[in-house]
Amino acid sequence: MGGSSSKNSLSIRDNRTGQEYEIEILDGNVIRAMDLRRIRVDPDEFGMMSYDPAFMNTASTRSTVTDIDGGKGILRYRGYPIEQLAEKSSFLEVAYLLLKGELPTRDELDHFVEEVTYHTYSWQDSSIHDNITKLLSGFRYDAHMMGMMISAVAALSTFYPNAKVIHEKKSRWNQTVRLLAKMPTLAAFSYRHHQGLPFIYPENRLSYSGNFLNMLFRIGDKEYRPNPVLERALDLLFILHADHEQNCSTTAMRVIGSSHPDPYSALAGAMAALYGPLHGGANEAVLRMLNEIGDMGNIPDFIESVKRGERRLMGFGHRVYKAYDPRASIVKEAAHEVFTVTGKNPLLDIALELEKIALGEEYFVSRNLYPNVDFYSGLIYQAMGFPVDMFPVLFAIPRTVGWLAQWEEMLGDKEQRIARPRQVYQGSVERSYQPIGERG
Ligand code: CMC
Repeated sequence: MGGSSSKNSLSIRDNRTGQEYEIEILDGNVIRAMDLRRIRVDPDEFGMMSYDPAFMNTASTRSTVTDIDGGKGILRYRGYPIEQLAEKSSFLEVAYLLLKGELPTRDELDHFVEEVTYHTYSWQDSSIHDNITKLLSGFRYDAHMMGMMISAVAALSTFYPNAKVIHEKKSRWNQTVRLLAKMPTLAAFSYRHHQGLPFIYPENRLSYSGNFLNMLFRIGDKEYRPNPVLERALDLLFILHADHEQNCSTTAMRVIGSSHPDPYSALAGAMAALYGPLHGGANEAVLRMLNEIGDMGNIPDFIESVKRGERRLMGFGHRVYKAYDPRASIVKEAAHEVFTVTGKNPLLDIALELEKIALGEEYFVSRNLYPNVDFYSGLIYQAMGFPVDMFPVLFAIPRTVGWLAQWEEMLGDKEQRIARPRQVYQGSVERSYQPIGERG
């Protein structure tokens, strides 16, 4: 590869033509896919592309929001280790950090909490428009709550037509605060509908998670006082789920957002991506799996069926983490604290035993399969009284912050345009239309 002129470059020799190309290396280990286009046999042909189904090795953006080192099990929001935020911060403080890039001062935090809690923009923002409650009431009593939430968030776009003004910072911030404020209310209303209970409206004296618990679990006029351990545990779970860089749903948010619809429509799409059992629906799938195993004695057979490839051990494995998911360790610890209040979830022993066996099995070790955030979170949610259908909704509430932070970043990124991947066409070459009577 005769004498490279620059250290930060890659020399590529095209053996079809003998031609050499020098491609710049950016940020230590990145090349621009568009640089590959220069490589071609004939000046008139399209040029080289990279083929990367499921984006296994493609960076779609430069980002300053969340940093993950999957090999070392590191997760940081805006540079702050998740362990420190989990121990010292509150969900709304973390939301501010993710959205604005810096931890707030006391005044900034107070103002932000007030904005979210009191929804100060206009009378319409005091809670949820009555027609949205009618929409939710129209669902069957057994409708999956994630389906209800996706529909309700999409419907919000019709209530806030000015949300289309995405190029104005103030408008974007208004929608961001609205969405953050309304997600727990929509989730609680979906739950109450599911339970056949009347809706409880937000109470501003309570914290973000305390208010959510009140809207979910208050019965009649009796004052509801959230248990502080459960209130904090929920807040902690919200912190852990707030962002996770370019995962499936965040990519959906960015891809949809790249055609410039309002954020409610884009967020409904992100929620749909989260719903699947390989992503945010995994916490629900874990609980169903633990229930199905039902007894410690059934664990060896279950593990064998996983090793035969008949099923997956839900809550295990991750595209990025090839070590213990740092969020899983925090959730596991929090579970014990929650159980001191709620009583132990009987499925915990099955989960612990599954983890112990899996971590000692060659199948899991050789594939770097460790518990992820969803392995233990469902046990906490169930112990707190949430139905299994609601688990993905409990993921979507805090992830709203991450989706919005990444959407904001995408809109401000001069390099981004409408997302539009290429394909490698492998269908028929041109052929002529045959009238239906002449087809074999
Ligand atoms: N149980 C059994 N085998 C597994 C599992 C699992 N949970 N996960 C991966 N594998 C195997 C898989 O069969 C494959 O084996 P082989 O090489 O022999 O074909 C190998 O490990 C690599 O798997 P993959 O499907 O190529 O990995 P991926 O990066 O495409 O998928 C994943 C990542 C999270 C979708 C997958 O690990 C999985 O399905 N896990 C269970 C669902 C789950 O817990 N999802 C929540 C993820 S964390 C929360 C979130 O961010 O959404």
